[in-house]
Amino acid sequence: MSDLLPFRDPSLGTAERVADLLGRMTVEEKVGQMLQLDARDDLHDHVRRRHVGSILHTSPERILEANRLTAETRLRIPLLVGEDCIHGHSFWPGATIYPTQLGLAATWDPALIERVARATAEEVAATGIHWTFSPVLCIARDLRWGRISETFGEDPFLIGELASAMVRGYQGEGLEDPTAILATAKHFAGYSETQGGRDASEADISRRKLRSWFLPPFERVAREGCRTFMLGYQTTDGVPITVNDWLLSDVLRGEWGYTGTLITDWDNVGRMVWEQRVQPDYAHAAAAAVTAGNDMVMTTPHFYEGALEAVQQGMLGPEAFDAAVARILTLKFDLGLFEDPRLPSPGLEAVVGSAAHSALNLEAARRSIVLLENDGVLPLGGGAPLAETDPVRVAVVGPLADDAQTQLGDWAGGSGQAGWLDGQPREMITTVLDGLRAVEGLAVRHAHGADILTLEDDPLGATFPDGQPRQPVVVPAASDPRLLAEAVSAAEAADVVVAVVGDRIELVGEGRSTATLELIGAQNALIDALIASGTPVVLVLLASKPLVLPASAAKASAVIWAANPGMQGGRAIAELITGAIEPSGRLPISFARHVGQQPTYYNQIRGQHGTRYADLTQAPAWAFGDGLSFTTVEYSALALVSSALAADDTIVAEVTVANRGARPVRETVQVYVRDVVTSASWTDKELKAYRQVELAPGESARVRLDLPVADCTIVDAAGVRRVEPGAFELLVGPSSRDEMLLSAAFEVVG
Ligand code: NOJ
Repeated sequence: MSDLLPFRDPSLGTAERVADLLGRMTVEEKVGQMLQLDARDDLHDHVRRRHVGSILHTSPERILEANRLTAETRLRIPLLVGEDCIHGHSFWPGATIYPTQLGLAATWDPALIERVARATAEEVAATGIHWTFSPVLCIARDLRWGRISETFGEDPFLIGELASAMVRGYQGEGLEDPTAILATAKHFAGYSETQGGRDASEADISRRKLRSWFLPPFERVAREGCRTFMLGYQTTDGVPITVNDWLLSDVLRGEWGYTGTLITDWDNVGRMVWEQRVQPDYAHAAAAAVTAGNDMVMTTPHFYEGALEAVQQGMLGPEAFDAAVARILTLKFDLGLFEDPRLPSPGLEAVVGSAAHSALNLEAARRSIVLLENDGVLPLGGGAPLAETDPVRVAVVGPLADDAQTQLGDWAGGSGQAGWLDGQPREMITTVLDGLRAVEGLAVRHAHGADILTLEDDPLGATFPDGQPRQPVVVPAASDPRLLAEAVSAAEAADVVVAVVGDRIELVGEGRSTATLELIGAQNALIDALIASGTPVVLVLLASKPLVLPASAAKASAVIWAANPGMQGGRAIAELITGAIEPSGRLPISFARHVGQQPTYYNQIRGQHGTRYADLTQAPAWAFGDGLSFTTVEYSALALVSSALAADDTIVAEVTVANRGARPVRETVQVYVRDVVTSASWTDKELKAYRQVELAPGESARVRLDLPVADCTIVDAAGVRRVEPGAFELLVGPSSRDEMLLSAAFEVVG
C-alpha cells in the first residue's frame, strides 16, 4: 500500500479522505470497522479476523499490542481506543480520581467541571486513549437505581449546564488538539426511568415525558457538538433503544441535526437476541441495528458474522454500512490518527496524576461537600485556630473513615470493571482519618465501629448467558459487640465524634441497584450507640447516592454529605470540619426520608391529592438545592425590572443577598419559574437559572438575574415545547423548598 493514496494525504479534507478510503474497503472491513471489542479478549482475533475498528478496556500494554497488529493489516486503519474515564482516568494506575459525577454536580459550577474534564482529557490523551464514555446525562429518578452516582442529579437544567461544560472540557478547542478526547453523551435516552430502580428494566415513558425532562440535556450537547452519543439498555413501548427509529432518526439526527457518531451500549445488539428476545438471531439483530442508524456496535463480536450473513440473505445491501463507517472514519481523520495514532506518550508520567491536577482535585472535592445540618458544632472550636496545647479530642469512627478505595466510588481502580488493577495507589488518597490526623490541634482516636457487608456467590451462577460476570449477593453484616464497644468508648472519651458511614462499591453501579436506601449492615446500630453516648456527633455520609438515615441521626449535631469525593476527599472533609474552608456545595438531588417515598425529585407534576402518605410525609429529608454555609444569608427585595413581557423579552430581576454572619460565603442564588396555569399538567416549579456570589462577612449585594422568556416553556399535550402566555412567578432563593423562596409575579403577553 503506497502512502500516496489519497486517504493518506493529510492535505486533503476529511470528507475526501473518507470517501477514498471507503471506496477501497471490502464489506468485511466495513463491518469490522463498526465493531468495538473488549481488549481483554483475543486482540489478534479482533484485528486480523474481525477487522475491528475500535477497542475498549485496554490495559497500558495492550494498547501497544493492538497498534502493532493494525499496522500489519491491509489498509492500516488506526484503532479508536475508548475507555470509561468517568471521574478522572478511572483505570489508569496513578491517575487523578476526582469526585464522582454526582459529587461534582454538588458544586453547581460548570467552569470548575470544565477544568476537571480538561485535566482528565490531558491525562487520558497522554495514555493513548482517544474517547471517554462520559458524561452521563440520565436524570436521577428512583434512588434505588445503582447508577445514581454517575448522574448529575435530578434536574434537567442543571444537568444540561454541567454536561455541556464537561463535553467542552473533554473535547477542548477541537480534535486536532493532541489533548482533546471524544466525549460521549449517554445513555440515550430514558434509561434512568427504571421500574423500581431495577437496572435496564423497561422504561415506561411517553414521548411527551421524554421531551419534557429526559431529552433537553441531550439536545443541548448534540447541538453544541458532542462528537459521540451512547445508547442505554432500555426498551420503551416494546422497542429496544437500539432500534428506536423515532429517537435515533427522527429526533436525534432529524430534529436536532446531529451528525456525530452513535455507539450502542455493551452488547445491545446481542441482548436483542438472548435477553430481550425480540430478534431470532444475530443476522436479524445486526440488520435491524444497522438499519436503525447505529454506527458502532459495542462488544457484540457476533455482529461481524451476523451482519455478513444479513448481506448474504439480502436483508442488507453491501452499501448499508457506508454511512456508519464514514462517521467512524471521520472521527479517526479528525483526530489525526492516520498521521499519529496517539499512542501512550513518552512523557505521560509528568501529566498523569500531576501536582496541578491534584490541586484541582482538592478544589473540586472542597466544593463538592454539602453541609446538611449543623447545630453550631462546626467548625470545630468555633473556627478559631486550634491549639496544640489544648487539642480537641476527636473520635473518628465508622467503616468508611479510613477506606481509601471505597472513597473513590464507582469507575475507579477498585470498582471491578477492569482486571489489570484493583485500586489506586494508597498514598495518593487521603481518607477522613488521614485528613483529620493532619490537622494540628486535634487529638484523634480511631475506631472502626461497624462492618457493612460480606459477599456470597449468586446461586444462579457466576456468569450471565453472554459470559459477563454476575454480581455476588450482598449479605448485610451483623453488629459486632466488640467493635461497637470500642467505638462507644472512643466516643465517650472525646469532645466530638466524626462518624463516617455510607455505602460500598458492592452496593453501587451497573446491576447493583438496592432494594433499600438505608445504611447497610451494622451502621445504624453504630449511629444509635454513638448518639446515645451523649458526645456531639458529626455524621459524614460517604454515600454514592442519597441514603436514608436512622431516626437517631436527627440528634446528630451536624450532617455532611460528601458523595464519593475522590482522592482528596478526606483532606477536604477535614478542612470543612475544622473551618479551614467554607461549605458551599448544594444538593443536585433530593434525599428521601424513607425508601417508600420514591421518587423524591422536587419537580413533580401538580395535581395529586395532598402532600403526604397516611403514615409519612412526602417531603424529602433534604431537598434539591439545599446546603448550609457557616454563616447566615438573607434574601430580600426581589424586584422585576418589568413584569409584563413578550415572548422574545428577557426577564430581568434583582434580589438582595446579605451575609449576616461572621464567615465568608459562596452563595448559590437559585431561580425557579412557576407557570401558574398550563394547558397540560406540568411541574409546579423548575430551576431555570442560578448564580454563585461570594460575600464577605457583613457584605450584601444586589444580584442581577437574567432569564429569557423563551426558557419559560412547557411541553404541551401534543408534545410541542412552547411558552404559553399568561401568569408566571419567578421564585428566587437558596433552595427548591417553597418556604425558602421569594416570589415575584410576571405576565407573558402575546
Ligand atoms: C456499560 C455501561 O452502561 C456504559 O455506561 C459503559 O460506558 C460501557 N458499559 C462500557 O464500559
